[in-house]
Amino acid sequence: MNTNRLSGKMAEALNQQMTKEAHASQIYLSYAAWADSEGYEGVANFLFRHAQEERNHMMKVLEYILQRGAKVEVTAIPAPPPNPASLNDCFEKVLSHEIDNTNAVYRLVNIAHEEKDWATFNFMQWFVKEQVEEETLAMKLMSKMKIAGGEKAHGDALYMIDKDLSTAPDGVKSAEEATADKP
Ligand code: FEO
Repeated sequence: MNTNRLSGKMAEALNQQMTKEAHASQIYLSYAAWADSEGYEGVANFLFRHAQEERNHMMKVLEYILQRGAKVEVTAIPAPPPNPASLNDCFEKVLSHEIDNTNAVYRLVNIAHEEKDWATFNFMQWFVKEQVEEETLAMKLMSKMKIAGGEKAHGDALYMIDKDLSTAPDGVKSAEEATADKP
């Protein structure tokens, strides 16, 4: 008996999303390393945590593919893009990566809807909600930068933004603790 509960198209799309979350993790990791090397330790702290969160998202998708009896395809992760040119550029890029990921999530929701795969449709709602939170977070970072002067921000203003992010809550779980319910 066939125990695979995902269509070929859906399994492929979920595997692509798994790699996309891994790629997002690499992007945040590289931006975090850049921020640290520029002296922005608070921003680096925030981005390192986010890298871990993206890895947890990857695990959540992986676990779901296995649960549904389909094949997990672990592939190469594309290299992250070049380092940001400034903190303002960094936050702009964070928001555009999140919007790009939201579009990828919506694509999966659309496929699930077309296929009447309500299990996957339901599973993906968690990501829809998560993307709203992540876009909001990125927009808040950009608002802070705007108040600080955007691309012209310097000195005290950048110091305060960095200090602010250094105390961001330590809420991200490590990947090995991640489960489908608590990614
Ligand atoms: Fe996994 Fe930032 O979305």
